[in-house]
Amino acid sequence: MPLKMVLDCDTGVDDTLAILYAALHPSVDLLAVGSVWGNVDIATATRNCLHTVHLAGHPEIPVARGAAGPLIGTPPVYAYHVHGDDGQGNAGTGRVVGSEATETAAEQIVRLARAHPGEVELVAVGPLTNLALALGLCPELPQLVHGVTIMGGAALAPGNVTEVAEANIWCDPEAAATVFHAPWPLTMVGLDVTMRTTLDDGHRARLDAGGSIGRYVSGILDHYLDYFAAASFGERRSCLHDALAVAVAAGTLVPTTAPTVRAFVVVGDGPTRGQTVCDLRGMYMGFPAQEGARCRVVLETDPRFADEVVDLIAHAGDAAIPLDRAPSRPSDPPGHRTDLGTESTESTESTESTESTESTEDRS
Ligand code: BDR
Ligand code: CA
Repeated sequence: MPLKMVLDCDTGVDDTLAILYAALHPSVDLLAVGSVWGNVDIATATRNCLHTVHLAGHPEIPVARGAAGPLIGTPPVYAYHVHGDDGQGNAGTGRVVGSEATETAAEQIVRLARAHPGEVELVAVGPLTNLALALGLCPELPQLVHGVTIMGGAALAPGNVTEVAEANIWCDPEAAATVFHAPWPLTMVGLDVTMRTTLDDGHRARLDAGGSIGRYVSGILDHYLDYFAAASFGERRSCLHDALAVAVAAGTLVPTTAPTVRAFVVVGDGPTRGQTVCDLRGMYMGFPAQEGARCRVVLETDPRFADEVVDLIAHAGDAAIPLDRAPSRPSDPPGHRTDLGTESTESTESTESTESTESTEDRS
């Protein structure tokens, strides 16, 4: 039986691959997608979620719009420099396809969990704002879901925003802390594994040799590879972060090391804000059982998973939607855009190193 999944995304280049993997893989029954702010503003994320389910040939999968910013009302910070102005590596079609659901992403989560008690896996690959809001709407949610899997955090690996914080957690630490604290089985697929599974131009060539879906994905990856070449790897190679969380949740990527331990998120204003602290002290004894442990921390997976994602998408054939660029592309919502990476470059003010300025340059 395929796993019933609700996928929450800040779509985003790698989110696009995650949605495609979930929509196309026979082991997943993708019930719905929720959008969330993060890589891009909420309007762009929602548009990209809709575009991607249509690209996958699954227009029946509902897309609900989620939160536009962090739980506590602080201003959102985006990563356009990583994912392109359109969240599609500046290679999207700009087309608005389909229409969003009338409920919010948090309401959608609650409705589907109630409709399928014990069966729905929530997979969140953006900031955890919608999941925290869903917990607020339905405190018994942890008893209603199958589990929660996130792409987020870093247990032993360095952060990608600050020295210790990963982007999805750093964007909304209060929401993440709420999600880590809730009594549900949580699987953390963090930078420990997602930085070690990468795509390169050889993968893009295989996508190009597929149908129009593959060629579209190859196109959006071009900018992403450039970003990672400069920020992380020194060569054209990119992570595919979010698809790993979908696959671990679905059981199609089985971690080779994934202890279940106690874990929490650092909030407050200090330099470790957004850090995920995982109690890995048992590592020298093969991770004996820990009282109160509820977070399965994925520490090792097979990096050849990248090939599987590429094959799935390359063999998906041709899209049923036009993939040429729309004649006139929707512009950024006025006054909505906040991208510290860009601001810090354009600013005539002093650009002394601050946590947030460094962070958006590093985040991926
Ligand atoms: C995460 O941050 C986002 O930029 C990616 O989509 C991924 O979910 C990686 O830190
Ligand atoms: Ca993401």
